Amino acid sequence: MTQPSAQSSAQSIEELTHQASEELDRITDLESLDQWRISYLGRRGSLTNILRGLSQLDLEQRRQLGALGNQAKNLLVERLAEKTRQIKQAQQSEYFSRDRIDVTLPGRPAPIGRLHPTTQIVKEITDVFVAMGFSIVEGPEVEWDHYNFEMLNIPEGHPARDMWNTLWIDYRDEQGQQPMLLRTHTSPMQARVMESTQPPVRVVVPGKCYRYEATDPTHEWHFYQIEGLAVDEGITFANLKGTLFEFARRLFGEERKVRFRCDYFPFVEPGVDMSIDCFSCPGGDANCRICRGSGWIEIMGAGMVHPRVLSGVGYDTEKYTGFAFGIGPERVAMLKYGIDDIRHFYTNDLRFLRQF
Ligand code: DAH
Repeated sequence: MTQPSAQSSAQSIEELTHQASEELDRITDLESLDQWRISYLGRRGSLTNILRGLSQLDLEQRRQLGALGNQAKNLLVERLAEKTRQIKQAQQSEYFSRDRIDVTLPGRPAPIGRLHPTTQIVKEITDVFVAMGFSIVEGPEVEWDHYNFEMLNIPEGHPARDMWNTLWIDYRDEQGQQPMLLRTHTSPMQARVMESTQPPVRVVVPGKCYRYEATDPTHEWHFYQIEGLAVDEGITFANLKGTLFEFARRLFGEERKVRFRCDYFPFVEPGVDMSIDCFSCPGGDANCRICRGSGWIEIMGAGMVHPRVLSGVGYDTEKYTGFAFGIGPERVAMLKYGIDDIRHFYTNDLRFLRQF
């Protein structure tokens, strides 16, 4: 092996440093950078080789060139670190600045909800009455005893109060009375509407009601009702029949028949319950799930507004008469769609709700 001359070694260190620097300037990615490092500074790298060769020189030359070589090495190592930092930073800012939204991708489906079956049937029923000239009004769910009972001809201590198991609000007035409750029906709105308007009155009142009751397939402690009220001069039972018959035909089909039977509600006289003929079986099928063999299905209570209710709100009972009715919309939906348990309406089970 020929001895490297001090001059040629110094020259090659300089040339090499120059060349390495130029190459480094052109590098833009980490992979090429690593190759660059290996080829100059690695164990068999060209600078490493030169430095190793210096050991052949004599002491004085070794000292001079060693210093030169180390300087060159330090410079390249420093520039390598700097370049590494630059490349990483460039990569990062490119990552963040690139548009991350691909507008050509198909959109994510937004799950569209639907109206609750109760809401749907309430709308269907009220629509029928709106088409017949009724307006829709709503009232408070927390109600006074006064409207829920007194104004409806159900005075305190009257046995008819037992028809409505009541949830009382934990509040007492100055007299120590408990006058506030969760309305047990929508009928209190009859009095509220009449107090604030003069005849003619034609309203339907959909809303939530509450009763202190155990639940079973046909009873809930909370449920909806739709109240109806028409008061005017010369309203007779024929108007009640005609209106409710028309309602039944629009909701349950043209061929429906209706049946009225006497029933008792303190705020109407006479009071009735209205049934429609069974639309599920040809009539009186003993195994019919809907009518249970009777051929008839009760769908609401109704009657001619009691004169005491009219006089209670200051209407002239010689001049005005009216009819009222109360429908249980969940019950109507159960009949219409064959739902076998009223509690389904309140359990929020999507398997049930999605069917409507
Ligand atoms: N409010 C009655 C109830 O909850 C239903 C009812 C019956 C309403 C007859 C009426 C009616 O307006 O005339 O049991």
